[in-house]
Amino acid sequence: MTLHSLVRPAVVVVGASRGIGKAIAEVAAKEGATVVLVARSPEGLAAAATDIRKAGGEAITLALDLMAEDAAARLEDFLSANSLMCDVLVNSAGYGLRGGATVLPVDDQLGIIDLNIRALTHLTLHFLPGMVARGRGGVINLGSVASFTPGPYMALYYASKGFVRSFSEALHQELRGTSVTVTCVAPGPVSTEFLEKSGANRAALFKILPKLDSEYVAERAWHGFKSGRRLVVPGISAKLTAFVAALLPSAVMLPLIGRLQRRSNDPCPCGSGKKFKACCGARSNS
Ligand SMILES: NC(=O)c1ccc[n+]([C@@H]2O[C@H](COP(=O)([O-])OP(=O)(O)OC[C@H]3O[C@@H](n4cnc5c(N)ncnc54)[C@H](OP(=O)(O)O)[C@@H]3O)[C@@H](O)[C@H]2O)c1
Repeated sequence: MTLHSLVRPAVVVVGASRGIGKAIAEVAAKEGATVVLVARSPEGLAAAATDIRKAGGEAITLALDLMAEDAAARLEDFLSANSLMCDVLVNSAGYGLRGGATVLPVDDQLGIIDLNIRALTHLTLHFLPGMVARGRGGVINLGSVASFTPGPYMALYYASKGFVRSFSEALHQELRGTSVTVTCVAPGPVSTEFLEKSGANRAALFKILPKLDSEYVAERAWHGFKSGRRLVVPGISAKLTAFVAALLPSAVMLPLIGRLQRRSNDPCPCGSGKKFKACCGARSNS
């Protein structure tokens, strides 16, 4: 037996302490994969690992802030120390913010680029060459239906998901014939803490759109990936949203989304310090 054969393949899920990432880890573990759960909160990770073990799966955890410069190297070291290799990478860590781009704190908005774009890209580029060399495995990247259009009042989030879909679909094409798959998953609203934390659930758009369960999204994501799919858009309403976004011109989509994501009590984007309804909102209604 060679040293190499002692190294076991693992499904590495970043953003696995809750939500969609945790649900994908559960699906993979149910199919017999060893899963490595990564997120910042040790308590959330321990709870997620306990659920997986109770269901008969194998899970180990790593508490790590993916925004740290050396996150990819630390994850690699952790895998080596546990005689594991990243066979499948699931990039599910991400966050968003609802509100005017001129009003939301700049650092919080830049953090969306650091996590949703930079960390996802770094991990993908770090682990893909090994997968290609082994001729197996792949990457699941969590995009969103937000990737199909710009999104006023969630500008950074929509733009970050546009990047994720573009990057993932291009990689999928580049890797044709290698037995390695990159799949972008683009759900509409999913009932997780994301909606509350981002403030999205206070916008009319997210009240109108039906919400999916993370378990359903995870099943679609995992089986779509296993079948080599480039893009998975789970659920009818997300498919419809993506279709409408592709059909309607920006001149229609932008004011529509802006209206559905802005709240009249929001601080006015013009910087007056007043509420929107008492400032530019009042002027545009008069
Ligand atoms: N929920 C939706 O409506 C929806 C719709 C479409 C797409 N998505 C996308 O799906 C993905 C998962 O979303 P979700 O709904 O499952 O969100 P969630 O419930 O808020 O989970 C986010 C996960 O990311 C981890 N995370 C956040 N910041 C991190 C950091 N700096 N380093 C390491 N881990 C970090 C969180 O754990 P810790 O806080 O412990 O670090 C948590 O495990 C995101 O990319 C999101 O944009 C969500």
